[in-house]
Parts: sequence; C-alpha cells; structure tokens
Amino acid sequence: GAVAGAGVTGIGAASAVGLNEAFGAAEDPTADHSDAARHGLQVEPFHGARQAGVATLPQAFSAFIALNLNQGASKDSLRRMLRVLSDDAAALTQGRAPLWDQEPWLAENPSRLTVTFGFGPKAMALIDAARAPEWLKPLPAFDIDQLQDRWNQGDLLLQLCCDDKLTLAHAQRVLLKDSRSFAKVRWIQDGFRNTVGATPAGQTMRNLFGQVDGTVDPYPGEEDHEKVVYGRDGFEPWIEDGTSLVLRRIHMNLDTWDEADTPAREDSVGRKLADGAPLTGSQEHDEPDFEAKGPLGFPVIASYSHIRRSRTDNPDEKIFRRVYNYDLPVADASGMSRSGDISGGVSNTGLIFASYQSDPIQQFVPIQKKLDDMDMLNTWTVPIGSAVFAIPPGCEEGGFIGDGLF
Ligand code: HEM
Repeated sequence: GAVAGAGVTGIGAASAVGLNEAFGAAEDPTADHSDAARHGLQVEPFHGARQAGVATLPQAFSAFIALNLNQGASKDSLRRMLRVLSDDAAALTQGRAPLWDQEPWLAENPSRLTVTFGFGPKAMALIDAARAPEWLKPLPAFDIDQLQDRWNQGDLLLQLCCDDKLTLAHAQRVLLKDSRSFAKVRWIQDGFRNTVGATPAGQTMRNLFGQVDGTVDPYPGEEDHEKVVYGRDGFEPWIEDGTSLVLRRIHMNLDTWDEADTPAREDSVGRKLADGAPLTGSQEHDEPDFEAKGPLGFPVIASYSHIRRSRTDNPDEKIFRRVYNYDLPVADASGMSRSGDISGGVSNTGLIFASYQSDPIQQFVPIQKKLDDMDMLNTWTVPIGSAVFAIPPGCEEGGFIGDGLF
C-alpha cells in the first residue's frame, strides 16, 4: 500500500488522518500508540553473568568510546570509576536517570540501550597484572594497515549501543561527565545500522558498499557461538563469561568502488549484491561451492574473493562479527577534510569492524593474516585504527563491572 499520510499536507486533512500539531505532520491513523508498542520502552538487562552488548541483537546506533586514564590513576581510582559508571549504566539502561542527572527526561526511552565495558592493557595492569590475558596488546602489524594513532587502543572502552540516538547521546554525556575526573576521551567512533522498522525483521544488514554484511556469523543460539565468543570446551577463556573485542576502523573507498562494475564488485567478495547469495547459489544462506568451475575452467568463486579468503575450516579460528557503519563529513569548501580521515571526494565512510572472540591471537589474527596476504576487497578498504579490549564478565545487582577482578 501507499505510505500512510504521504502527500497529505493541508489542514483539511487533519480530521481524516490525525495531525501532529507541533509539526503539522500527518500520522498513520492505525498506528499503535500504547506503551506496549513503544519501542523506546524496551530494555536490555544490565545485570547478569555476562555483559550485554555482545550477544544482544544489534541496536541501530553505537558509540565506541576509548578513554585514557589520567596519569595518576591507581587501582583504587579505577575501582571508584567503575563503581560510578556501572551504577550509571545500570540505571540508564533500565530507563532511569541517575539521581543528579540534570536532563532526566532524556533517560525515559531506554530503547534497548546497552553499555559494555572493556579493559585496555593499562586498565588491566592496574587492576591485576597477573590476570591480564596474554593477547591484551596491539595486534601484529599487517601490510594493509595504515593505522592513525588517534584511532588506536585506549585504556578503557565504553561501548554504547541503542536504538535511539538521543537516548544514546544522553547516556554518553552522563558517563563522560562521571569519568571526567578519572580519564579523558581518546576517541569516539559513532556507528549506525538500519533504524528499527526500516527493514524487515531478521534481515541481514547492508554496509555502505551495498553488500549484505553478516551472513555467515556464529550468531547467538547457533552451535558455535558459545565456543567462539566464550571459549567453552576447546580453548581456555581468559575469564569465565568474559570475552575480547578487536575493534578495527576500516576505511571504505566509495569513490574507487564507484568505478567498479557489478561483476567486478561481486567477484571481489564471491557473493551477489542483490541478495547476498554466493555466486554459486540463489539465496543468501546457500552454502557457497568453492569447487564449482565456470565455462573457462576458473572457479566461480575466485580464490582471491573475500569469502574464500576469510572462510576457515578450523573451528578454532572463528570470530563473531557485530559491525557498524560509519559515515563522516567530507572535505569542506577549503578542500580540507574536517576529520582528517582518508577522504576521497564525496565520502568518508567505512566499517567499525567489531569482532568478539575468546582469544584474538588464535582466532582473529589468522583470518586477518590471510586477508592481508590476499583479498580482492583490499582494493577498496584500508584499516586505519586498531584496538583490543578484554571484556570482563557482567556483574550482579549491587556489584560493578570488573568487581571479580579486584
Ligand atoms: C564475510 C564485507 C572486513 C571477516 C563478509 C561478507 C562481506 C564482507 C560482504 C559476505 C557476507 C557475510 O558473510 O557477512 C567486509 C567489508 C570489510 C570486511 C566491507 C571491510 C571494510 C573483514 C575483516 C575480517 C572479515 C577485517 C576479519 C579479519 C569475514 C568473515 C566472513 C566475512 C569471517 C565470513 C566468511 C565465510 O563465509 O565463512 N565480509 N568484510 N571481514 N568477512 Fe568480511
């Protein structure tokens, strides 16, 4: 059917379709305005064995915030900081404003807000150096990397995800106000996916290359999710119910991507753009056939394609991807890029590639190494930031994130 209210602009239409007086916009008369239907009231749990924000169905917006701890930071000051921030997060995620919040109304629509804490090397060294996982250090250098230090590492991560950008902005402000005597912002990476209701439920996200992105991933509930993310029956987790985050900021050059035609684009990944089906199949979730040959005897899915290169048969080398798009302002009239990112023409775009796994060195690095050696997609993508964080377990009511480590 037609978009409800589309084209209805006159006052005369008010009685027919209902009128939002403040804005003069037409409303869908069949819309359900009950609290039960209000997406903004949906909450994700904060307390529990594991932190939310990893297995959580990805929310529409994200802010990955890296903090640098102040020079004089100590184990004790870090504990106080985590106590305060955990209390803030426990309230905000449940739609409650912390007591002193000067804009408490902005907490009223939690919209599935999650706040996930991660520890960088310095935070772990302060908390308990003996329990710092061995992998908590910069990843090995890759040839494709063009890392800019301003997007690298950080001492403490706050990963905020939320279906409402205004709620997210307020939560970010509260958490940063409360961390200001302990730490300074190193970087903030804002990301987005489709807004709630924009796409059919359950549809795999697309990235800004237009690709269906996230088809083959050990999703929560799938057999290998537990093992990949939490390291059960296989390799030792660094801590029970904790995991790791590898955060790669990857520039996507839309300007040169524009120059590639559809066959070249599909060849580079090994999947069709229209529906994400493998080049050897007809539906997104069809199993790719890497043996199939075309009329000239070449593999249908090229050996240099992204899915061929990133695919592994080793169950110990799998990762869980939960990625977000980024899209920043481009060059201003003076020709200067406002953000200083690699900026080609009319786009400053990429992926906030968030990868969760029990052990980055055993799981993420072998895949990245293979992609570094050969991956046609590298023609258009450049890693420009890299960070690794230990994600501690969740906390119970009254506790704080990381309390089991102090
Ligand atoms: C699959 C895009 C970077 C690992 C895919 C697919 C696309 C894609 C379109 C196919 C659909 C799917 O299964 O999700 C991109 C883009 C990247 C990027 C645009 C950079 C901007 C990476 C990186 C890694 C990675 C850095 C890991 C180091 C994977 C894996 C798969 C995959 C493991 C699934 C392979 C399989 O079928 O088994 N990616 N990717 N990707 N990608 Fe990437």
